[in-house]
Amino acid sequence: MDISTAIRTNGSVRAFTTDPVDDATVTAVLDDARFAPSGGNRQPWRVAVVKDLAIRRTMADLMLPIWHEYLGANATGATAFAFGKSIDAPPKVVPNALVETIEDIPVVLAVAADLHHIALMDGNLDRPPVTAGASIYPFCWNLLLSARAHGLGGVMTTFLSRAEPAAAPALGLPEGHALAAVIFLGVPVHQPTKLSRKPVDSFTTVDRFDGPAFTA
Ligand SMILES: Cc1cc2nc3c(=O)[nH]c(=O)nc-3n(C[C@H](O)[C@H](O)[C@H](O)COP(=O)(O)O)c2cc1C
Repeated sequence: MDISTAIRTNGSVRAFTTDPVDDATVTAVLDDARFAPSGGNRQPWRVAVVKDLAIRRTMADLMLPIWHEYLGANATGATAFAFGKSIDAPPKVVPNALVETIEDIPVVLAVAADLHHIALMDGNLDRPPVTAGASIYPFCWNLLLSARAHGLGGVMTTFLSRAEPAAAPALGLPEGHALAAVIFLGVPVHQPTKLSRKPVDSFTTVDRFDGPAFTA
């Protein structure tokens, strides 16, 4: 598969067959993912391959209330947990098969970022810093693309980051590390390939962000 096709068709997979994924395949995926770029090539990623079912259950128990809180806030029409908004909405309790069946997911990866090795370029500003994520999420995305190349599918989730202090002891998260994502992988029941995305001219302008739409 060419790169463009892979990028354009790597939809989230949240349902997996019972086929196991062996450690050699997980290693191969991680071995591809490590070629991601990072600021200063510091490669600040740490990965825990979470096999222990009790640890998985702890993760799920922490994720589920956040999922409900997220849905409740989104139900107001706003973007849950967005910058500059505090949404006072009741949680919406809707099942989340992915999280609720965490023990059965073939591969659960906790991805952490070593903040001692990330330049917080925008850490001086009066808004949440975002550039730090640029040193960890390309790794996560490489991982998901490589998973596809190995016949797997998956999804990156960030629910657990919101509960990082509570999750840290169970995962042994080192001091100064951020829990960046939990990635689920397995053999897809179905691989979505038709992705819904906005067109280029809806987000690209000439010269300034308030400039005219950029079109060829
Ligand atoms: C930073 C980030 C956080 C995400 N968090 C979650 C999550 O917590 N739970 C989940 O099911 N999907 C999560 N996703 C997957 C998105 O929902 C998905 O990429 C998006 O809806 C596009 O859907 P598609 O991949 O099916 O095209 C996350 C994706 C990203 C990039």
